[in-house]
Amino acid sequence: MTKTSKKISPATKPDTKVVHASVNPLEHEGMANIPVYHTSTIMKPNLDDYRQGRGKYDYGRKGTPTSQATEEAVASLYKMDDCVATPSGLSAICLAISSVLKSGDHALFPDSMYGSGRRFIDNVLPQMGISVGIYEPSITADELTAHFQDNTRLFYLESPGSLTFEMQDIPALTTCAHDHQCLVAIDNTWATAMYFDAVKHDMDIVIEAGTKYISGHSDVSMGFVISSGNTAHTIRQYAQNTGICVAPDEHYLAMRGMRTMALRLRQSEENGLALATWLEQQPEVIQMLHPALPSHPGHHHWQRDFSGSSGLFGFVIDPNIPIMAIDSMADNLDWFGIGASWGGHESLISQGRFKRTVSSIPDGTLLRIYAGLEDKDDLIADLQAGFQRMRGANT
Ligand SMILES: Cc1ncc(COP(=O)(O)O)c(C=O)c1O
Repeated sequence: MTKTSKKISPATKPDTKVVHASVNPLEHEGMANIPVYHTSTIMKPNLDDYRQGRGKYDYGRKGTPTSQATEEAVASLYKMDDCVATPSGLSAICLAISSVLKSGDHALFPDSMYGSGRRFIDNVLPQMGISVGIYEPSITADELTAHFQDNTRLFYLESPGSLTFEMQDIPALTTCAHDHQCLVAIDNTWATAMYFDAVKHDMDIVIEAGTKYISGHSDVSMGFVISSGNTAHTIRQYAQNTGICVAPDEHYLAMRGMRTMALRLRQSEENGLALATWLEQQPEVIQMLHPALPSHPGHHHWQRDFSGSSGLFGFVIDPNIPIMAIDSMADNLDWFGIGASWGGHESLISQGRFKRTVSSIPDGTLLRIYAGLEDKDDLIADLQAGFQRMRGANT
């Protein structure tokens, strides 16, 4: 008897998928993991095969067994037809948006969109002849209707919003956008496929920064655009026409990270909730920005639409606390690095810089925490000592 490849189906649970997706050792001489093919040239047996483009692979940039494995695994996690890997989360945002729009079109984006994506839509889309509308993230479907124009072709969601963590009414807004003949795209980096079912919620395009939870070790820059049917074809063609591809070592690291993603995400979630619950009790914290806390104004949307929360959240410190007191808290933490990005093994703290037309965030200092995989008691003790330093520096 010969062992055949894994029988992953749409019904296979996500925890099983992340471990087994794209694992076909017998297609790779029995190697347990997918080999890293470093290649640009792919040789053909004869000139006629080359001329006719015969064979599964054609040219390194267009796909290898290494890149195909990651793309198929992410597509299967999302239960969608195709996934295009890109060199960063930002390039995934840019690919998703520019591939489905053309000059003369209009598209709608939430005010809470990821900052670098916001710079793309503000600065680059107008150069392409595409006009942009910004809507308030907690808008209702009734209010949204007025934002559509005859040429609106794309409606973009990001829930929770970057830095400010507003939750959106995804089902109502999506129905409204589809009624207006728009494609709906979501930046699903915060929840990942593990905690938000994009197909169940009728998404046409999903964007995920693989830099975060999928690769998971702060050593990869990567993005994914996932979709189905004609939309998937359009995105794949655009990516090929513009030469988007990712180096094989990045693919390998992303796949290696994905194998433990379910476990890491749960630990990060548990630690994040423990830290947020502790922070909420501190008198200097005037607002928590964590959708899984009942105090969050969009908690009911999170509860209805998501099956878990990631370890990334924000909180606002009283505007009367001077910044040097906050610095003395953050600068001397033992287990929290100070830096951008998130989704890796280590905890991080940073300060949010954001621009919003309308903001639900009170005045004060907005800090962001990413809860990594350390022991949560160590993390809380670290924050406790930090808050003592902040109080000391403020007397
Ligand atoms: C929600 C979200 N989307 C996209 C990105 C962009 O990912 P990358 O840093 O890989 O470009 C980020 C990065 O922080 C993010 O937080």
